[in-house]
Formats: sequence, C-alpha cells, structure tokens
Amino acid sequence: MAKHDLDPNYLDPNYEPVVNHSENTPFHQVLAARMQRRSVMKGTVGAALASVMGLGLAGCGGDSDGDSTGTSSDTGADAVSTELGFKAIPVSTANQAVVPEGYSATAFLPWGTPITGSYPEYRPDGTNTGADQEQQIGMHHDGMHFFPIDLKAGGNSSTEGLLVMNHEYINQGALHANGATYVDGMRPSDEVRKEIAAHGVSVVHIKQDANGIWDIVFGSPFNRRITGGTEMEIRGPARGYHKLFTRFSPNGNRTRGTLNNCSMGPTPWGTYLAAEENWHGYFRTSAEVRPREQVRHGVDNTSRYDWELADNRADAYVRFDVTPGAGTATDDYRNEANTYGYMVEIDPFNPESTPQKRTALGRFGHEGVIFAPAKEGQPVVCYSGDDSRFEYIYKFVSSKPYYAATAGGYLLDEGTLYVARFNDDGSGEWLPLDLDDADFAAKVTAATGTTVGDIAFDGFENQADVLVNTRLAADIAGATTMDRPEWGAVDPNSGEVYFTLTNNSSRGREGYDDTNAANPIVENRTGHIIRWKEAGNDHAATSFEWDIFVFAGEQGTETVVDGEAVVTLDDDNIFNSPDGLWFDYNGRLWIQTDGSDAAPYQNNMMLAANPETREIKRFFVGPVGCEVTGVVTTPDVRTMFVNIQHPDGHWPDSSDPRPRDATVIVTRDDGGVIGA
Ligand code: FEO
Ligand code: CA
Ligand code: CA
Ligand code: CA
Repeated sequence: MAKHDLDPNYLDPNYEPVVNHSENTPFHQVLAARMQRRSVMKGTVGAALASVMGLGLAGCGGDSDGDSTGTSSDTGADAVSTELGFKAIPVSTANQAVVPEGYSATAFLPWGTPITGSYPEYRPDGTNTGADQEQQIGMHHDGMHFFPIDLKAGGNSSTEGLLVMNHEYINQGALHANGATYVDGMRPSDEVRKEIAAHGVSVVHIKQDANGIWDIVFGSPFNRRITGGTEMEIRGPARGYHKLFTRFSPNGNRTRGTLNNCSMGPTPWGTYLAAEENWHGYFRTSAEVRPREQVRHGVDNTSRYDWELADNRADAYVRFDVTPGAGTATDDYRNEANTYGYMVEIDPFNPESTPQKRTALGRFGHEGVIFAPAKEGQPVVCYSGDDSRFEYIYKFVSSKPYYAATAGGYLLDEGTLYVARFNDDGSGEWLPLDLDDADFAAKVTAATGTTVGDIAFDGFENQADVLVNTRLAADIAGATTMDRPEWGAVDPNSGEVYFTLTNNSSRGREGYDDTNAANPIVENRTGHIIRWKEAGNDHAATSFEWDIFVFAGEQGTETVVDGEAVVTLDDDNIFNSPDGLWFDYNGRLWIQTDGSDAAPYQNNMMLAANPETREIKRFFVGPVGCEVTGVVTTPDVRTMFVNIQHPDGHWPDSSDPRPRDATVIVTRDDGGVIGA
C-alpha cells in the first residue's frame, strides 16, 4: 500500500510539533562570532556545514579533573578493543535486511505473532480481533532489551532470556482488514480495542536450541502483553496530586495504559523502563482554553486515531477526550493526559506486577532513558531526552544510594531532576528543577506573572506541579534548546554520555531559536551526535564538558575539532537523522537512523562506531520504507537483535499482503562477536 495510507503524520520526520516558544537562546550572539571563526563549510555537497569548536574530550577530562578514577578513554581502549573488524556495506534500496559478508540476518517476532493465552494465529487478511491482538506481538517495534533468564540469580545467559520490546504506534491500514472504519462518525469498538492492544510492550521468553536457532518458549509464564489499556500505578511526587484526579482514579494514584513507547532503558536492578514519547497525539479536547499541561505538549482538538469515538462508549475509550465536563475533575477525564508523559517501570521477571509510572523522572516527550553504571553506595543516575524540536536533555539523580542487594524502583521516586545547559565554551551545567533549590526558586519567582513562551505563568503549586510541567520548568531554568534529542548511551569504557540530535529543520529560521554551540547547524536536516563527560567522571556531578562526536550528512561532511577534520564521511558511512544509539558490552557504539531514504542515503540503516577513533562503518541496512530502531545483544555479543519499524513493502514475507514490523536476529557465520 502507498505510504500515505499508513500514518501521514509520521512521513515527516519533523512531525513532532514545535511547542516550545520560550526563546531560550542565551548564547546565540556570542556564538555566532565564534562559529564563524571555527567553522568549515564543504562547498561540494550542499549538506551544509559540519564543524565543531576545539573541545577534544580526552583533553577536557585530563585537564579538568585531577581526581579522575582512571576510566579515561585511553585506559578504556587498552582494556577492551572497540575496533571494527567487518567490511562496511554500501547503501541499499533492497527490500531486505542487508548485513556484511560473513553475517546472517533472520526476521523474528513479527507483529501478530501469538505469545500468550490461547495463542491466536496471525491472519494475513487482517481479521484478527482485538482480543487476538491482546495475545499477540504488537506493531511498530522500537526500543528493546534482552534480560538473561538467570539474571536474578547473578547469571549471564546468552542462550535464553526475556526479550522486552516497545510498540510505538500503529499502521491502521495494515492492522485491520480494510483500514480504520467509521460508522455514522463513530469507530467500531473492536477496532479501537485492537489498536490499543497493538500498542505497549511485549515480554517474550526466548531460547536458542542446540542448532543456535532462537524461538519463543510457548506457555512460559513470563510471556506478557502490556498495552494502552493495562492498569498502572502512579509513583513519585505526582502520585495523588489533584491534577491527576480522574473518574477512574479519584485519588490520582492510578491510570490505564502506556502509549507511544519509543525507546527504553534497562535499570541496574533488572527491570525495564518504557518511555512515553508522542502521547499528546492520542488525546483531544473541545476546550477553547487549554491548561498549560496540555498547551506545552500540543494536545489539541483532534486525536490521532479517534479512540474517544468508540461506538460502545466504554469508559476505557471515551477517556481520550479530555474536554472538561460540568462537574469536577473526578467526574470526567480532563486530567487523563496528565497521567501520560512518564517513564514506566515494568518488571519482566514478575508477570503479575503492575507497571509503575515514575513521575520523579519528569513529564515530557520521553524518547528513552539511559542509566549510568550503578555504583554501590552512590546515587542512581539516568538521562532522558525530550524528542521535539527545541526541547531539552534531562538527568535524574536519586536521593537514596544504590545497594545491589536492596535496589528497586523506589530509588526512582525521590531525587533531583536536572536539565542541561550547554555553554558555548564547551562547558555545561545541570540546572536543578527543584523548588527547594534557591536558584531555581528565585527564577520561578521572577517568572511568576510573566509570559513564558505562550504561557501566562502564575507559579507552581508544589514540586508535583513542577514535574507535571517539566518542560515549562526547564524553560524557566534557562536550559539549552536542542535539535530533537533522541537516544542516549553511556560508554562503558570511558563513562562519556552520548546523545543523538536527530535533526531540526527549524533551527535558526526566522521566528525560531538561533543556533547555539551545541546545535550549530542552521536548518539542521541531517542531525549530529553530541557527547559529554561529567566533572570528575562522576555521573551525579552538576557540571560537564561536551563536544560533538560526529555531524551526519552526505559524502564529504566533516566534523572539525581544533581545525582538524576528525571525521570525513564517505560511501562507507554517510547517514542522516541518527536516532537509536547503544553501546554494546564491549564498547562499540551502534547508531541507527530514522531519516530521509532518498539518495544518497537510501534505506535507513545502522552503523557501528569506534568511540576512541571516531571510525564509523555501515553495518546494516533495513528494508524499504522502514526506520531501524532498537538494538541489543546477548551478553556474549554473539546474537544481536535489531528492530525494523514501519516497513512499507511486503516484508519480511514477500507473499504477505501486509508489511509486518519485526525483530531481525543478526549472527556471525563463524559464531564470533558481532562487530569485531
Ligand atoms: Fe519515537 Fe523520537 O522517536
Ligand atoms: Ca492532537
Ligand atoms: Ca526514535
Ligand atoms: Ca526519529
């Protein structure tokens, strides 16, 4: 079927609405002069300028922290080789997953695969019911993690485990026999049930047989579907806050479902955090005047799939209309959207457990979350990007220390949420969004009675209000607006934190924020990857030093440090719109793309990078129309799982009339380490 029949919103990689009008451009004037001096423009490719100021990170680390713990980049390289041993593959337009010579790729767990209950068979004619979909793998696979089956016993199995994956959104055309239908302006309720069930998270118990073939463990009690309708607890400071009161949960303690789960993060205690990214699009309101909790996220008068129009008028569906009624908040769903926008903790080893929305990590368009390595007796630290144009990067530092023996989700309920400010000189600061912090409290007081962006700001009631309005709090704190932060990754050898900034075609245009040092490209269409090192290599530090790892783009695009091109892209590694990002257990960096699939880039892809040398090689190219998103390996790095989202041809089965999102298993024919 044609692309426009799928989800027209998602054809535009810049679909994320611009809802930040706060004009946080603290450094742009200083920067303009500076960038002019340092930049290098490539005249041949029109891909714009690719340059960075002289901020070599190895130098920063050595110069700025005398108390370095000896985990600098240099020592890390000695410990584990991060060299790339495979031959780069060319760009591809083939409708298949392409891998280097000596590797194999096999599709696994396509949408509709039965995993629980009565194991209803996938029907290629689209006639599976909502009840069937609740027992089958969801659509639009995204972030994913492999938990060794013996993890809780201290084991490290690479032959059996729980593969947990997100299902970000749906293709209604492929999901139903005849696409989405309406009868007298209403949606058939079983279509709505099926669409909600195709969202969420799958937990799949998988095992390798003696021949190395992976399969589902049928009947395993661990196999589970969590959907857009599963009951969840609200935890952290926003639990019980009146802005979360609903008819379903008059005390503001619970909600139903998780939606638009993009990326994720495994916690140090063996659970899975699913991110809620573009959740705003699932709600609609008729209200002319919308609360700031909706305005700052783009909740408007239409919903993406019209679930609120379900013809049976079930409470589970009408809740997506957040128009206030005549009564109080506990009579309707005016606050339902305030129960979304969080990181959701799921314990895959406890199939009866209720998922927990961790509000202390903030409410925004969470792309995912990445934890710093946990250290005994130290706070737990994790990072999360807000993927919309001109939004921010955040860090959470727990109040309580981590002890492996007792660690759990409670550590995520108390702590400090910070937002990043990237200074033009290569330094950075973490700004606390905490009313108990004197500086932040003073900024809030100063902003009260003024207009912040489009919002008439009348203060925060309490810390729960700050967290429910995280974006607004970050505006007030003076954070640096970024070019759509997507996934983050922490280098296991150096401790450096990397984030993809996928693109931002509005950057520097009239009426939008100017460039800044960390986002230096006007109308940034191809994106870049930024990285930083925390002061003293302590992830809980409140300052850091940053540089740009690589600018994406066409052949000839240079990343320049101190006047020297440290990366020049060529046929082996051109890419655009980096999105998925993951360090494997040896320290190779995997970069996935969700960008233009026109020439010269062609189909979306995954590349491997050596963080020491910035060598980058194309390792994988996906089938036609897809985005490549989600990657993890077994602990021995000999089986790799890669997710293919929204393919639009007959893939993976050329005889199936429907495209099916699927996981691709990549192995080396000689059984060796992937990428080595
Ligand atoms: Fe779901 Fe920002 O990608
Ligand atoms: Ca909308
Ligand atoms: Ca993404
Ligand atoms: Ca993306």
